[in-house]
Amino acid sequence: MIAAREGAQVVMVSRDPKRGERALRSVRAAGSGDVSLELADLASLASVRDLAGRLRNRLGHVDALINNAGILSARRQVTTDGFERTMATNYLGPFLLTHLLKERLAEARGRIVNVSSDGHRSGDLRRAPIEDVLRGRAWNGMMGAYADSKLANILFTFEWMRSAPVPGVIANALHPGVLRTRIWNQNWHPLSLFMQPFRILMGSAQRGGHAVLRLAQPGVADRGGKYFDKGREARAVDQAYDERLAAELWETSTRLCRPSARPPT
Ligand SMILES: NC(=O)c1ccc[n+]([C@@H]2O[C@H](COP(=O)([O-])OP(=O)(O)OC[C@H]3O[C@@H](n4cnc5c(N)ncnc54)[C@H](OP(=O)(O)O)[C@@H]3O)[C@@H](O)[C@H]2O)c1
Repeated sequence: MIAAREGAQVVMVSRDPKRGERALRSVRAAGSGDVSLELADLASLASVRDLAGRLRNRLGHVDALINNAGILSARRQVTTDGFERTMATNYLGPFLLTHLLKERLAEARGRIVNVSSDGHRSGDLRRAPIEDVLRGRAWNGMMGAYADSKLANILFTFEWMRSAPVPGVIANALHPGVLRTRIWNQNWHPLSLFMQPFRILMGSAQRGGHAVLRLAQPGVADRGGKYFDKGREARAVDQAYDERLAAELWETSTRLCRPSARPPT
């Protein structure tokens, strides 16, 4: 909404046509930019590939890719690709999408913003082989899976800058704040009930959006490879700086998602 208000060309992505159309109408009503909607399920690699193909056809360049979609899942669920749903949605889908858009990002010396969470601090990707974590064979509950996925977002961000698959395209990650959004209501879980009285203390989604968009702008965190707590650079948990772990996560994700595979003809 904020970007649209400032006149940017914005492509929103939603998995649900009704919710997507509703969000599109409200963003269009608030802004003057060119706003459109694409439907895709980020938990499905095929859907991410379709989305990337459509975006590549439509857009000559991408100035900013904001990997924001995220879920909490009270139950262990496995996607049709064989991945744990939280990991698939929060990490693997965005990992694949980012790779598939890298030429368009390169055209603009674009920026990647990976929306992580302070919850990454309880993540642990060393506790089991990474493929087992991604496939949910080492599932450790709703918050455990969420924390692992959010730690993966940061490891991916840092490794993107180290391996520089597209020189000039920078990536940063952030915790957008504890926000009054639907994420707390997605599941029936004791945590959802526990969080209800605290909703009044949470920040607005718009406030979180400002912190996210700040990192999408040139002139802010231009070196990339940083973690922010809202607007402030912060130190992530130690494991996020483990270069071997980051390289292993990258290699495993690349093997499983096959970003360089040719699309079916
Ligand atoms: N809220 C907080 O306190 C907080 C704190 C730290 C980090 N974050 C992070 O902020 C990001 C945004 O979350 P939020 O708080 O704004 O929660 P939210 O209101 O639930 O928004 C999450 C969005 O992700 C979309 N999504 C979920 N699964 C998807 C899929 N498979 N394919 C495509 N889209 C999908 C949802 O679409 P639907 O409308 O179809 O469900 C929804 O629009 C997440 O990455 C979250 O981890 C939030």
